[in-house]
Amino acid sequence: MSVLNGKKILLGVSGGIAAYKTASLVRLFIKAGAHVQVIMTPASKDFVTPLTLSTLSKNPVHSNFFNQDDEDAVWNNHVELALWADLMLIAPATANTLSKMANGNCDNLLIAAYLSAKCPVYFAPAMDLDMYKHPSTLSSFTSLKQFGNIMIPAENGELASGLSGEGRMAEPENIIAFLEADLESKLPLRGKKILVTAGPTYEAIDPVRFIGNHSSGKMGFDIANEASKLGAEVVLVAGPTHLKVKNQSIEVVNVTSAQDMYDACHLHFKNSDVVIAAAAVADYRPKEVALQKIKKDSSEFSIELEKTKDILSSLGAAKEKQFLIGFALETENEIENAKLKIQKKNLDLIVLNSLQDEGAGFKKETNKVTFIDKNFKIEPMELKSKEFVAIDILKKVVSFFSK
Ligand code: CTP
Repeated sequence: MSVLNGKKILLGVSGGIAAYKTASLVRLFIKAGAHVQVIMTPASKDFVTPLTLSTLSKNPVHSNFFNQDDEDAVWNNHVELALWADLMLIAPATANTLSKMANGNCDNLLIAAYLSAKCPVYFAPAMDLDMYKHPSTLSSFTSLKQFGNIMIPAENGELASGLSGEGRMAEPENIIAFLEADLESKLPLRGKKILVTAGPTYEAIDPVRFIGNHSSGKMGFDIANEASKLGAEVVLVAGPTHLKVKNQSIEVVNVTSAQDMYDACHLHFKNSDVVIAAAAVADYRPKEVALQKIKKDSSEFSIELEKTKDILSSLGAAKEKQFLIGFALETENEIENAKLKIQKKNLDLIVLNSLQDEGAGFKKETNKVTFIDKNFKIEPMELKSKEFVAIDILKKVVSFFSK
């Protein structure tokens, strides 16, 4: 999955012949799963039509501060557009637009949005070779880089003038590759290995029956997806569930029983920087597993159970550098029990679910958690979707590594 997936991109198109290439660029952004809004300078409309870009971006194209043809003229809020964006790209960026950006010469909507943008700004220059080398253009590049904007260098090749040299806007595929590489290099969990457990475990009674629980696995899968979005290498050890990961780079290890999960976790533990144990592991399993299906011969039937191994405790005991996060599901004395669990399992953080909170627990889309760290700092969170709880958990991981 591209790092551009789900990103909100504000594309500023200025008036150069390379503007026609923005049709492909927008298409590639959409294909990568990004949301795109386009601002065109008036001059750029001579090279590509707003209809083309609005059709491809599936959004209206913005050009003027208000729509002059419209009787009930609506003001285009450049601040709102700029704040909406996760990333702004000016492509093609002509010498004129670059100079206006460098000097704050705000005479069109694109520059107004640029000056309002708080997100990372990239620009892909496009002009003739002598313009590209002119001290005035070079001084715009220097200023913009000093502002923290990122230049996607022009390419060498045939130019609209018929001359050949440096100045061609980077090809749309290369712009996408540049953005992906740059964004990936800045992901906060890049280079970190995260082991996540998810789902229930099934403990066999006989070849057709088992002891299980209602865990859907959603919390653990959301954590794995969010961690990989932040650049982590993720191993997801999952008990039986129908869920699928969103990002194919996540290594999924499917397991059935608590013992399988224990083995898989210990196999990957040494290499991990972080462990997040979201699985609802069975605490007990049948002492004997019948080799044949048990027949209903007697009126009463009982199964002798034995304790499963506590995976998280065993990882806590083997902990070297790993940041260990566990979950606790409590119905009474929640905080005290969770604190005991932190000590007993040698955890760095516990995510406490209280079944007394409405919206928390198994088979729900939402969760209401309280974070307790190893120093017993308590942080109650709002009721949120499990995806947002996953984001909160990973914020804790990111802040651990940024200390
Ligand atoms: N856990 C584990 N292996 C087990 C049992 C639990 O790794 N055999 C992990 C879970 O994934 C979770 C945490 O430990 O992160 C939950 O701890 P547990 O002691 O099972 O607590 P609860 O089930 O919440 O409550 P109880 O104390 O009642 O068992």
